Amino acid sequence: MDRIQITGGASLNGVIPISGAKNAALPLMIASLLTDETLTLANVPRLSDVTALSRILSNHGVDRMVAGKRAGQSAETGQTIALTARTIVDTCAPYELVSTMRASFWVIAPLIARTGEARVSLPGGCAIGTRPVDLLLMALEKLGAEIEIEAGDVVARAPKGLVGGEIVFPKVTVGGTHTALMAAVLARGTTHIVNAAREPEVTDLAHCLVKMGARIEGIGTSHLVVTGVARLTGAHHTVLPDRIETGTYAMAVAMTGGDVLLEGARADLLDSALGTLSQSGAEVSSEEGGVRIRRNGGGIAPVDVTTEPFPGFPTDLQAQFMALMTRAGGTSTIRETIFENRFMHVQELARLGARIRLDGDVAHVEGVERLKGAQVMATDLRASVSLVIAALAAEGTTTINRVYHLDRGFEALEAKLSRCGAQVQRIAGG
Ligand code: EPZ
Repeated sequence: MDRIQITGGASLNGVIPISGAKNAALPLMIASLLTDETLTLANVPRLSDVTALSRILSNHGVDRMVAGKRAGQSAETGQTIALTARTIVDTCAPYELVSTMRASFWVIAPLIARTGEARVSLPGGCAIGTRPVDLLLMALEKLGAEIEIEAGDVVARAPKGLVGGEIVFPKVTVGGTHTALMAAVLARGTTHIVNAAREPEVTDLAHCLVKMGARIEGIGTSHLVVTGVARLTGAHHTVLPDRIETGTYAMAVAMTGGDVLLEGARADLLDSALGTLSQSGAEVSSEEGGVRIRRNGGGIAPVDVTTEPFPGFPTDLQAQFMALMTRAGGTSTIRETIFENRFMHVQELARLGARIRLDGDVAHVEGVERLKGAQVMATDLRASVSLVIAALAAEGTTTINRVYHLDRGFEALEAKLSRCGAQVQRIAGG
């Protein structure tokens, strides 16, 4: 298994290109199952989760064509992928394929919408809590699907097709909203999705579905109204820039000091996190080419945060922000409200010398003068990258094991960081 070795102390200066958003690309790829025409997606990041989902889609019969390199493109320019689900040949997504990635469970919605049946293994994914799918299944049932659990699989049937209904989510769920949208677009009649997630990735999916011929009102709000259509067509859509990658590198620069342009980033996708970073002492500005982040001299001020659904501070940046706060000049409080077990990074940050006390869903982080390099092990994607941020500021060398988590969600991480002056290298195998 690969490891990453980081020798801390260098500030970051230069340009980091921001990739297409993983959490937008995955549901968009899944939406290709809704039509027999071609859905072409540009700016798809090169990530292992994208490869894994491609395999799952191809098992359902989706053809995939990846565009070759074009003049002026760098290795990190996103890929353009054309997906065609001419005929769905298999409505079953088996355990071997689904168990590694929770998002793949979402295929259940287009499969039942288009064919009237789906059999999908209950999902796996990052170890950040129990992560049930009850709300996703509730949404499908509201549209007339019959659901049974058989041998670890969810079996959904709607032989006469789905019908519009009212789906009221008791809590905000991104996956639940993706599922409800993809099921409702081909249902007969009108569907109301109440307390819908407003995350930019949900909005990106809704915009793409509209290009495919779907009728959706209220996009970007928490009340979506979908009027079902008989069929959807192909479309061309560009995946929006990754706000979590943007926030991660912004926090890395706030940690090490320096001056970096996050090329292609959109500040409006992460106002809350960028506002928090400004309070911590970093300078954040929106520029024509992206978002610029600077911290030259001056310390890191402690700031309290609470994770919330969009537009609040995202849970997917909580670990990275905690890493930053380990070097703050005082104590900060970080409350995690989305997932009940998303503090797995705490014990690893402690190995680098961080002082963090956990109290239920709150972490009290007492800033320390210095962190020191150590061997650490990542447990999930965002926890892994929080260790990268801490390591960039730690004295000496840190070795991060289980790098495959990083490869799921951060494209060309070592290249992007080392071009800005960080000492980062990947060690293969071992
Ligand atoms: C998406 O996960 C993201 N994944 C997560 O990012 C992100 O942390 C999360 O949304 C919250 O923003 C992808 O987009 C691929 P949820 P999702 O349904 O859809 C509870 C990353 O690192 N819930 O919004 O699975 C759930 O347990 C990943 O890129 C139910 O109770 O999250 C959680 O407490 C990690 N029942 C809350 O809702 C359900 O049926 C929000 O989860 C569904 C969810």
